[in-house]
Amino acid sequence: MGFIFNNLLRRKSITAITDAESHGVGLHRVLTVRDLTFFGIAAIIGAGSFSSIGSACFSGGPAVVFLFVICAIACGFTAMCYADFATRVPASGSAYTYAYVSFGELAAWIIGWALLMEYSIGNIYVAFSWSGYFVNLIEGFGLHIPTWLTNNYPDSHQAFLDSKVGKLSDAWNTAPVVMGVKLIFDLPAVMINILVTWLVYVGTKESRNASNIMVIIKLAIILLVIIVGASYVDIDNWTPFMPNQFSGVMAGVSGVFFAYIGFDAVSTLAEESKNPQRDLPRGMIYSLIICTVVFIILALVLTGMVSYTALNVSDPLAEVFALKGIKWMLFIVSFAAVIAMTSVILVFQMGQPRIWMAMSRDGLLPKKFAEIHPKYKTPAFSTLITGLVVGIPIFFTTPKFVLDFTSIGTLFAFVLVCGGVLILPRNMNAKEKGKFKMPYINSKYIVPVITVVSLAVIFSNHASMIINDDTSYNIPMIVFYLVWITLAIFSFIKNYSLIPVLGLLSCCYLLTGMGWTNWMMFGVWLVIGLVVYLMYGYRKSKLNVVQ
Ligand code: ALA
Repeated sequence: MGFIFNNLLRRKSITAITDAESHGVGLHRVLTVRDLTFFGIAAIIGAGSFSSIGSACFSGGPAVVFLFVICAIACGFTAMCYADFATRVPASGSAYTYAYVSFGELAAWIIGWALLMEYSIGNIYVAFSWSGYFVNLIEGFGLHIPTWLTNNYPDSHQAFLDSKVGKLSDAWNTAPVVMGVKLIFDLPAVMINILVTWLVYVGTKESRNASNIMVIIKLAIILLVIIVGASYVDIDNWTPFMPNQFSGVMAGVSGVFFAYIGFDAVSTLAEESKNPQRDLPRGMIYSLIICTVVFIILALVLTGMVSYTALNVSDPLAEVFALKGIKWMLFIVSFAAVIAMTSVILVFQMGQPRIWMAMSRDGLLPKKFAEIHPKYKTPAFSTLITGLVVGIPIFFTTPKFVLDFTSIGTLFAFVLVCGGVLILPRNMNAKEKGKFKMPYINSKYIVPVITVVSLAVIFSNHASMIINDDTSYNIPMIVFYLVWITLAIFSFIKNYSLIPVLGLLSCCYLLTGMGWTNWMMFGVWLVIGLVVYLMYGYRKSKLNVVQ
């Protein structure tokens, strides 16, 4: 029993990873800091900014900007932890590899399993949103695709059952029946997935060029949206600022956090960047800063142009211009959205195979997953599997389901990355020129003092935050307080570094915004992952020792 337990905690040494990496597996080292920053922006600005921001504004009102700030803080601290890891372990695999050296194999597997949600399941949401704006765009040219080919099956069925009027029920009513089943699926979402899979399959350089052009276009157009939108802002729309209290703001956490996901994808490109230890941290942090500024201004412009109550739609950026009667902007916004989301899909579709490649090299997945295409120098098999993992669920999931799933899985990965930095021995080496080194600020007194003061204020003033109005206990919040107190104690005893502690706490706080159903689904997902690991990875791991 003890043996099994030890095996679950077996860790990879950093030297083993860097040695293996330096022997090279044949990926092309072509990416510079500018490319990596562009990749970050390519991954970040997408469906979150064009779609899910709408329902977050609706539930939180203009005060949703607070949530953007909180998420930026959580992501900022986490980015520093990613950067710290990227400097110490400059190998593909992102949080998966980082967990392997800090927490051990089981946690690494769990992270790899959770990242599947961020990279692949997240792309399903983006593909759905892409399809929505794509349909807007081509309708501007007078082209029409039948509704049963532009909507998803479960939502259409539900709309029919609820007797709703609109595109969804229209899809249900007009769909052809094949072998007793209504044929309803989102064709544009399927097509964009096939196209991007092909692009990623044929090469990093090609994908990089495509991605850089898309980033320039999307930033330029978002700037235009902000400038044009700003001239229509009516400050009366910012009152009431927080119509549904702070709980309303927190209700948008999945959507807002989703908008930020992506800066970490830069860390999957370690083996394709020219100087990963210098450039990966910069690429992550620069892209995060640029996107945070864009998001906050965008949220203020949207909630300033129209009442927040009008924003509960899947294409809010188009909606605000439609409501204001600015027709020419509709085309531009739809075009930008299509470009922006294509680049998100591209980056994640590139990231997922690289995580699988890392897991396969460690023996946790079959060898085939690490195979590099002799001509294109890309992880070909993993790329195709990624295409299938994104493509197949498009036929039977809904955007809301995949959005929640992605956000919880990614936050979970972030928590482990921040925790991983705390567990690794402190990086005592002097800062080398050009390499990132996380500043060490001793949390010994700062965190306990902040904890005692904050909890005293919270408990005396806002007991209602712990006990809901209906007097049932808010369990996620209670768990969060316990984690907070435990971290404060450990900070005091172990002199933890302040930045990862704050990263861990802010990500845990965001997790309190997730509903019960999300937690349950996530739990089931983890259990399935555990079974797969015990059946395959545990036995085949390269760290397996015969005793
Ligand atoms: N942040 C990315 C998006 O919003 C995932 O599409």
